[in-house]
Amino acid sequence: MKRTSRIALVTGGSRGIGLGIARCLAAEGCEIAICGIRAEAAIADVVAALRETGRDVLYVQADVSSRDDRERLLAEIRGHYGQLNVLVNNAGVAPQVRADMLVASEESYDRVMDINLKGPYFLTQAVANWMIAQQQSPGFNGCVVNVSSMSAFVASPSRGEYCLSKAAVSMSTKLWAVRLGEFGIPVYEVCPGVTETDMTAAVKDRYDRLIAEGLTIQGRWGYPEDVGKAVAMLVRGDLPYSSGQSIMVDGGLTVQRL
Ligand SMILES: NC(=O)c1ccc[n+]([C@@H]2O[C@H](COP(=O)([O-])OP(=O)(O)OC[C@H]3O[C@@H](n4cnc5c(N)ncnc54)[C@H](OP(=O)(O)O)[C@@H]3O)[C@@H](O)[C@H]2O)c1
Repeated sequence: MKRTSRIALVTGGSRGIGLGIARCLAAEGCEIAICGIRAEAAIADVVAALRETGRDVLYVQADVSSRDDRERLLAEIRGHYGQLNVLVNNAGVAPQVRADMLVASEESYDRVMDINLKGPYFLTQAVANWMIAQQQSPGFNGCVVNVSSMSAFVASPSRGEYCLSKAAVSMSTKLWAVRLGEFGIPVYEVCPGVTETDMTAAVKDRYDRLIAEGLTIQGRWGYPEDVGKAVAMLVRGDLPYSSGQSIMVDGGLTVQRL
């Protein structure tokens, strides 16, 4: 059955920034699909809370770096909803160990690149082909948003592989925006700054100090809903003539000051 509401897939939507995005898109009236690597039982409370918004929520345990998992993820969405309008490539990882570039391992490089770059790139490829096919349906409205990072622009030599992966996501955004332009599917990039999630929990004290010392213009941590609101704006179509662009959500961290 064709749904009248839009269906949004948020990878890594079970916590942190992805959950903030899923909440905001549910508030916009989207039905939600989320994926993560934990078993569904481990995030049952998250799914239940999202359903309290009145929207349908599908959880699929899937690793975005696995081709088989990506195929199964889309097959489950197709089976459940029959359509997909919005892809938010949010799932991502930091290096398991912050290591100086002079000694950082090739294994960490491969892991971070597989999850942060290769997985989203090929998930976008599969979803783009599905969206193009769905354009036969009258009124179809598609959109892709990549969650990259200020690290696409700010060099941190203690996590070089992470910065590289996010810089490449920026180019992936431009490439997909160009390729999907003729189909009327906009592709955007949202770049969070220092955001309070499990990913930054281990470095909380350091960033508390840096923020107090003026790291950002807006002297506070970013929150998942700051990113969620930016993504909701894009999905709503409030930036209709800006495909391929990067939106900073970093409290002014990347504004050069003298
Ligand atoms: N926090 C920040 O300061 C910050 C700043 C800039 C950019 N970002 C980016 O924002 C995104 C979200 O970060 P976050 O801080 O919310 O991280 P987080 O709290 O660690 O959450 C990461 C999410 O991604 C999922 N995930 C991890 N690896 C996956 C994989 N291989 N396949 C599918 N899902 C996977 C996790 O699933 P499980 O819950 O199942 O583990 C979880 O839902 C990432 O791309 C990150 O690089 C974060």
